[in-house]
Amino acid sequence: MTDNHVPRPVVASGEIAVRGVSKSYGEAHLSREVVKDCDFTIERGKLTVMIGPSGCGKSTLIRLLAGFEFPDRGQILLDGQPIKGPSRDRLVVFQESALFPWMTTWENILYGPRARGELNAQALEFAEFLLNKVGLREFRHKYPTQLSGGMQRRAELARAMINNPQIMILDEPFRGLDAMTKELMWEYYANLYEESGRTNFFVTTDIDEAVFLADRLLIMTNIPTQVRAVIEVDVPRPRRLADMVTSDRANAVKMEALAILHEEAMKSFSRGSKAAADFVEAYARRSAKA
Ligand SMILES: Nc1ncnc2c1ncn2[C@@H]1O[C@H](COP(=O)(O)OP(=O)(O)OP(=O)(O)O)[C@@H](O)[C@H]1O
Ligand SMILES: [Mg+2]
Repeated sequence: MTDNHVPRPVVASGEIAVRGVSKSYGEAHLSREVVKDCDFTIERGKLTVMIGPSGCGKSTLIRLLAGFEFPDRGQILLDGQPIKGPSRDRLVVFQESALFPWMTTWENILYGPRARGELNAQALEFAEFLLNKVGLREFRHKYPTQLSGGMQRRAELARAMINNPQIMILDEPFRGLDAMTKELMWEYYANLYEESGRTNFFVTTDIDEAVFLADRLLIMTNIPTQVRAVIEVDVPRPRRLADMVTSDRANAVKMEALAILHEEAMKSFSRGSKAAADFVEAYARRSAKA
């Protein structure tokens, strides 16, 4: 099998429209608005990255997109149809590992097709392809505890992709990995995305991750969150880390995004939010290093 041959059934990619969505938690006077009049589109076949201050409401939006919860106002449409609940056409990869500890890498990757009774030759061929793609062929018979953090995340990506969702939704999947492993993961993930041609929605608080991965970058306000800016990251693919570091366009996007994020983080910083203070401090440290 060559790298150019991608053995997967053709599933049309989806497009999500978020229209005037608001969401609050809590009762009556104790209620807190987390998402407010939020509008954006997750375009078909593109990788849309959402970045916003910690605690602004990104995971809340993901739960709404996944259909685990519902908006108080507004609508979320998948190809024009309202989202009525969870479905395998919108697959979510969370930060926490969802690998089954009692299954090997190979068994974990094949979990979806097996659970649906679709463990056929096509599924096995696709699993083999994904196993190679994420560099885990030699770790096929290992259990999750025998894999490094980065390997576990790669197994997880393969385990999600085998299900051919119309949209892949990822909530900070590489949070907590060391910087070097994280950068490697970006290249693995970007490669998988580029080959799949599938709609992807990726949430992060890491500006370098956001700029490296995004076709379109949604920059969110602080809580209650809404889209403050949309930036098209028109840097050609495939992207290599070394090229992104020296790309004028990538650096311009990073600076523009950082300026907005800094303003948003400072808003809650002035309200005394610990999360925002940490966020501002981390970026100040990183900018000083750059
Ligand atoms: N089920 C819930 N009940 C009450 N409050 C909630 C609930 N879920 C989230 N919140 C509140 O909504 C706010 C936004 O949380 P959310 O997890 O969506 O933020 P986030 O942007 O994903 O943060 P992070 O970057 O740290 O992951 C927080 O103040 C949180 O306490
Ligand atoms: Mg979150």
